Amino acid sequence: MGNALIVGNWKMNGLSAALGEIAAMAAARDDLWVAPPFTLIASAVTTAQSRLRIGGQDCHAKLSGAHTGCVSATMLVDAGAGFVIVGHSERRSDNGESDADVRAKAMVARAAGLDVIVCVGETEAQRDAGNVEAVVGKQLAGSLPDAVDGLVVAYEPVWAIGTGRTPTPDDVAAVHGFIRAQLVTRFGAAGQGVRILYGGSVKPENAALLLGQPNVGGALVGGASLTAASLLAIAAAAS
Ligand code: PGA
Repeated sequence: MGNALIVGNWKMNGLSAALGEIAAMAAARDDLWVAPPFTLIASAVTTAQSRLRIGGQDCHAKLSGAHTGCVSATMLVDAGAGFVIVGHSERRSDNGESDADVRAKAMVARAAGLDVIVCVGETEAQRDAGNVEAVVGKQLAGSLPDAVDGLVVAYEPVWAIGTGRTPTPDDVAAVHGFIRAQLVTRFGAAGQGVRILYGGSVKPENAALLLGQPNVGGALVGGASLTAASLLAIAAAAS
């Protein structure tokens, strides 16, 4: 796991005082990706001095126009972002985003030059009903862009996000193996090279075990990414 990719997702957290955490992350490592709120992207880019990759947590499916309150992929690029997360389960549930919406965002983000992290994952009820592969397979089929360049997939079981609960390592390995197989079926050999992150209650204490599973290429971290101390501890455990 020497080259695990660790991505922080700050969600709706972070005022300018939190730039000190960005500075501390950047001082310690040069391989972390962090998605602060839109309001901090430009200042985080300045603070990180190219040591971190800064990204957005969402973008609109169109590049410009009459969409009050929305942010486009080109605006993210203009602010200095290098990537964007799309299809996070909180966007899918809070904002009613469909697979088609997520795919449109992923396509426009790639066209704007951003790397894109496409999130998928089942709810607890779907897991209890034995539908993990059906649900994740449908999300992948509908949400992924047309090519693997600049694509990262994140498997985030909804019931593990912010709950302190995680799947067993075997369950993580099984779903990541399934996602890998879907990627290869869809994209051929190029699907082997797509990085698949695990997300959902990743902490310094469980990172080594979760990231040690086959086909886990890193972590998408929410709550534990808000401080440099904890994100750096996860990164250290992963490598
Ligand atoms: P969590 O969130 O690490 O706080 O569980 C992960 C995510 O939603 O990306």
